[in-house]
Amino acid sequence: AMPLKLQRHLVLIGPMASGKSTLGQHFATQHGLTFIDTDRRIVAKHGTIPSIFATQGEHGFREIEAREVAAVLSAADEPSVVSLGGGAILDTGTQQLLESCVVVFLDADLETVRPRIVRDTGRPLLAGDAVERWQEMSRRRRPTYLKLADHVLVTRGKSQQDLVEELSAML
Ligand code: S3P
Repeated sequence: AMPLKLQRHLVLIGPMASGKSTLGQHFATQHGLTFIDTDRRIVAKHGTIPSIFATQGEHGFREIEAREVAAVLSAADEPSVVSLGGGAILDTGTQQLLESCVVVFLDADLETVRPRIVRDTGRPLLAGDAVERWQEMSRRRRPTYLKLADHVLVTRGKSQQDLVEELSAML
């Protein structure tokens, strides 16, 4: 694919397991861009997400997350491809920083994410009935995803390459 020059950070948002990190990585690789996964940076500094939730609760995790996202989005680095955790958009500071980014909402439905979330132990907020909890959370957050998004990318039935091409055509 063609090298691409971004004017602003390209940020992927959307519910858990919607494929933000996978698509971000593929898209960045194909276009010769830097890819940043904020959850991966949090884990590198603070340990696994389940361990952060266990010791500091969701509240502690959100503080760490907001700080990490702000560090990435407000740095004067070259515009990059950035994937956020599903709940990062709940923070109002993050919402403000997203105003100066190109924001893409990865709109995944339950059937697409189902195989990825059943028996998932890496996402504490899905403990118990993962399907029920995923549905409830994505329904509740959906208005926020839509409000923040410059583009909506529906993922159902699409291959990774389809998604890369559709995303490329949006910019
Ligand atoms: C969360 C999503 C996770 C991770 C944490 C909380 C959420 O990231 O940040 O488990 O609240 O939606 P993914 O969106 O990559 O699953």
